[in-house]
Amino acid sequence: MTSAVAPEKPVLLLDRLHQKYNPGSQLEVHVLKGVSLSVERGDYVAIMGHSGSGKSTMLNILGCLDIPTEGRYLIDGVDVSSLSEGQLADVRNQYLGFVFQSFNLVRRTSALANVELPLVYAGVSRSERRRRAQTALELVGLGDRTGHMPNVLSGGQLQRVAIARAIATGPSIILADEPTGNLDSRSTEEVLQIFGRLNAAGRTIVIITHEDDVAAHAKRIVILADGLIAADRRNGPVHGNPPGLVDLTAAEESTDVWLVDEPADPEVVVP
Ligand SMILES: Nc1ncnc2c1ncn2[C@@H]1O[C@H](COP(=O)(O)OP(=O)(O)OP(=O)(O)O)[C@@H](O)[C@H]1O
Ligand SMILES: [Mg+2]
Repeated sequence: MTSAVAPEKPVLLLDRLHQKYNPGSQLEVHVLKGVSLSVERGDYVAIMGHSGSGKSTMLNILGCLDIPTEGRYLIDGVDVSSLSEGQLADVRNQYLGFVFQSFNLVRRTSALANVELPLVYAGVSRSERRRRAQTALELVGLGDRTGHMPNVLSGGQLQRVAIARAIATGPSIILADEPTGNLDSRSTEEVLQIFGRLNAAGRTIVIITHEDDVAAHAKRIVILADGLIAADRRNGPVHGNPPGLVDLTAAEESTDVWLVDEPADPEVVVP
């Protein structure tokens, strides 16, 4: 008997995507030239490629921070171009978590207040904000640094605050643009273990990196070149723990903690 269960639709789908900067002018740059990519829920994808190959351009589109000049982008089957500005803002705030190379924390504002910020935009009450921000900071091992200002934290700690901020809203998808680019090897490993546990707990992760050692922690490695996907290699099965996750028992035991909030389903925001 054949199974009647339909295959799950991809959580992220790029369909013949083009991106041009300054289109029609002498400064036109054709960065993405028809990129198609399908990402399953629970996958952990590393994007690699030379500087200028379009990695950040692609991640910005995945994060609804930029609109492609041509092609479609679907999150959980929903065409992003059909969403209003308000709905896009909701998708960014509730379903996507961002981590950048340069942390992008607010200065002279405590770690806790930085992590609370997306929850303010999400309209979460003050006491609930505090609770969730505290939990997120504990998850990244900074439960004892909540009152610290960014200027007294190390690079690795700053990036962990940024990750806590990205996960505080309970996003099902985490997008990271060279999150370990400014970190030493020890902090890099700490950050990768956090990403590994988040992925083991069911979050989908897309991470840009220049480093093979970092990409080796992902389940799939996609290489961009000349505006197209030049290689796409599976490094581990979509479901289950990602390669390179050291403390497997801890990840399994704490799965419920790592899923403080159920990963949200973007479909609910669509009318
Ligand atoms: N806003 C913009 N206006 C014009 N050109 C841009 C803009 N953003 C990016 N570009 C150009 O698009 C190309 C791709 O840039 P992108 O930042 O996506 O590359 P990248 O692969 O992330 O590189 P890196 O590894 O250096 O971060 C580059 O040639 C860049 O100069
Ligand atoms: Mg970049």
